[in-house]
Amino acid sequence: MSCYLGIDVGTSAVKAIIVDGQQRSIAEATTLLEISRPQSLWSEQDPEAWWLAVQASVQQLRTLAPAAFGSIRALGLSGQMHGAVLLGEDSLPLRPAILWNDGRSFQEAEELGHAHPGLSKRLGVIPMSGLMAPKLLWLARHEPGTFRATRKVLLPKDYIRLRLTGSCVTDMSDAAGTWWLDEAARDWSDEALAATGLDRSHMPELVEGSAPSGLLQPEIAREWGMRSDVVVAGGAGDVAAGAVGLGAINDGAGFISLGTSGQLFVTTRHFSPAPEALVHSFCHALPNRWFQMAAMLNGASCLAWAAGLLKTDIDELLCATEAAYRGPASLLFLPYLAGERTPHNDPYARGVYFGLSPETQQTDLIQAVLEGVAFSFADAKACLELAGTRLTCAGLIGGGSRSVFWAQILANVLNIPLVRYQGGDKGPAFGAARLARMAATGEAPETLCSQPAVLGVVEPEARLADLYATRIEQFRRLYGALKPEFKSAAAGVAAPNRCP
Ligand code: XUL
Repeated sequence: MSCYLGIDVGTSAVKAIIVDGQQRSIAEATTLLEISRPQSLWSEQDPEAWWLAVQASVQQLRTLAPAAFGSIRALGLSGQMHGAVLLGEDSLPLRPAILWNDGRSFQEAEELGHAHPGLSKRLGVIPMSGLMAPKLLWLARHEPGTFRATRKVLLPKDYIRLRLTGSCVTDMSDAAGTWWLDEAARDWSDEALAATGLDRSHMPELVEGSAPSGLLQPEIAREWGMRSDVVVAGGAGDVAAGAVGLGAINDGAGFISLGTSGQLFVTTRHFSPAPEALVHSFCHALPNRWFQMAAMLNGASCLAWAAGLLKTDIDELLCATEAAYRGPASLLFLPYLAGERTPHNDPYARGVYFGLSPETQQTDLIQAVLEGVAFSFADAKACLELAGTRLTCAGLIGGGSRSVFWAQILANVLNIPLVRYQGGDKGPAFGAARLARMAATGEAPETLCSQPAVLGVVEPEARLADLYATRIEQFRRLYGALKPEFKSAAAGVAAPNRCP
């Protein structure tokens, strides 16, 4: 029986999974990654570190399940979106990749928006600093030598594809997040490319996520001990790959992804742009489908940050916090450790604890983090509503979905039921394995992309939902009050006094 390999090139880890012909997970492997932040607002990774982590994960799978490994017929890639990998003449990276949560090109993003007001509707979103196009403008200005030497611009998973197949190819859902793709036409926009001094020659070839993009190079197949005819599928950006894994492929199917970052995602049958609501309207990983997404830069990463500072295991902290839980915390936490995209488009925003007192306990700090992230999802839901999409129920995937307690807080804050799925924390890698299978067999998405087994449905608790509605308003006011201070703090100057 043939098996399929899914590889997700994430930000905090590379995750890989072997899935058999009955869509069962046969083996899973994770290799951790580090982010480097050499300057304020910067966030970078070395593409070579991804490649080493991919090889380590693949070797783990080979050891765990040798028979299944030998019967892998196709592999699919998923990856962190928006990262800029700049390749020179020799196809080697010219500098570290500039990631999705990098805020350095804020100025350039604003300038692009002003100079090309009509483009955002066609490209699915306003230009924001995490996306690719503003980063290339920043590069042209601040590292002109690197800009001139750049021959190709690739996304993170597509750099891995280049190492695997020797070809520069991307899929529609990842290309969608560059601010160079005409989303309705599913083709590069010459106008958008020209706006950043580039043309089609700098871009990878485009394929659908479920289509083949090439074959594994013979020397890699030999080294890895794989068949000589392994197909590499187009794959997808991590959020769209998660949607494929979850079976969220039909109009209106929605879910929350609570990974390092956070997204609220809804599949749409047509391209439905709403850039004014800071919603991302992008091509899905399957043909003739699109999605709307609110993209937040801070998700489960906030809990990992707090646990790291408190030097305590996350599960232990969650357990203690749940035992002490009596309703909304007295503390508020703004979760904007890495700035924020939807709904603020503010790279200068930072994390804030508000309301600390001598009585504050460790569990209060953790509860405020869980609630602060949940409040940012309430903002996301409001943005999708502005874009005409109302969610009455949603799936929940990503590492954060492992905690039923956090899911309960999210359900209370959003006031909708949330569905937890088996394997929900491996969603993108599983979705990539499904795309691999479609690329190899030509099977229809409708037959393959069923929903995984449901672990449970978390219903909102009416009494708490009412209390949280008040807290959400306080959370919003707190950000509003601090917004000017964040920018001044980033510039290293005192905020101007404001008249009462
Ligand atoms: C989506 C986004 C993140 C990255 C990293 O717009 O920026 O989800 O894909 O996961």
